[in-house]
Amino acid sequence: MNLDQLFFDNFYTSPESRYKAPARINLIGEHIDYNGGKVLPAAISCYITALVSKRDDLVIATYSSNIGSKYAVELNKIKYSKEYDWANYVFGVFYTLRAAGYRIPFGLNILIDSQIPLGSGLSSSAALLDLVTYIANDIYNLGISMKNIAKIAQNCENSFCGLKCGIMDQAAIALGLRDKCILLDCAKFEYEYFDLNLGDYTFVVMKTNKPRSLVESKYNKRVEECEKALSLINQEFNVNNLCELKIEDLTRVEQLINDETIYRRVRHVVTENDRVYQFARALRHNNIELLGQLLDDSHSSLRYDYEVTGEHLDTIVEAAKVAGAVGARMTGAGFGGCAIALIKKEDFKQFKANVEHYYYSHIGIMPDVFNVDIVDGPSKDIDYHH
Ligand code: GLA
Repeated sequence: MNLDQLFFDNFYTSPESRYKAPARINLIGEHIDYNGGKVLPAAISCYITALVSKRDDLVIATYSSNIGSKYAVELNKIKYSKEYDWANYVFGVFYTLRAAGYRIPFGLNILIDSQIPLGSGLSSSAALLDLVTYIANDIYNLGISMKNIAKIAQNCENSFCGLKCGIMDQAAIALGLRDKCILLDCAKFEYEYFDLNLGDYTFVVMKTNKPRSLVESKYNKRVEECEKALSLINQEFNVNNLCELKIEDLTRVEQLINDETIYRRVRHVVTENDRVYQFARALRHNNIELLGQLLDDSHSSLRYDYEVTGEHLDTIVEAAKVAGAVGARMTGAGFGGCAIALIKKEDFKQFKANVEHYYYSHIGIMPDVFNVDIVDGPSKDIDYHH
């Protein structure tokens, strides 16, 4: 359906501008952003779009073309409510901005149209939060930097939506740059760009199509386990976060923690952080074989030590390996969602068919296997002229 028409049908006026924000994948560095580690995500060509018009009252009204529902609330009455469902991610941004002291002098109509499947592990929620923050920044002239857009979006996810996530997704999307991945230091919130020049090779995305919700997953539990580990370790160490530990520290750490499960969580975090360094080096030297090995090791660590993969992700990664991938791993939070695989470009068609076949015959649902481009962060697409 034509989005301009849909906008008119819902808000009885025409859109004034159109914006978009991309999804993201994470190449490596999983579940370490909230542990002060380095991560290596990139924004991908899969977008969430918003059509917007100004209102002359103080109401934020929003409609989702995907879900077909509409919500409206006055700016000074915003609070989290289960009833608002996905619209919490729109309202929450305005709440967070106002709480941070930004002046929002009038309301907006916002139509959301998403190509990013909800709960797919490609960060549909961070994309929506970044997008709405970007729109508010542009329309109300708030002067917020892209880095701080990510920060506000993360605050909103943490305090308003209730997920104790790190900064990776919001930053990956806000700071996205064409053909580059972002080496993001989550402790210092500093970043540098890396060329993603893989010659004959490419990353593909494999979506398990297992539905999930992070807020309801064990995500927050993992964050709490890491907090607990940190306090146990600091009986003797003096570290600000788990990623300050070295692999050599693990023997002593194991004794201090004295809890097998919690220790495995720490072992994942420390080894994963090390893999990010190795991965960045391998990217510089175009060492494809090592990249593949590190992807495989990362997945095993997330599977056995961090326990966030599950049958669907394990099977799709296995399918990718059987189909000849150099390496494959889950990407994002896990618990379903998506995995990525590093393959030879010319093999794509056959690879896709093989993964689909293997996964379907083991799990009984069809996965989606697709190519993505690495793209720029949020932007204003269109200024409609009346
Ligand atoms: C989710 C969170 C991120 C990060 C990843 C796991 O995507 O939003 O902050 O923790 O999981 O690496």
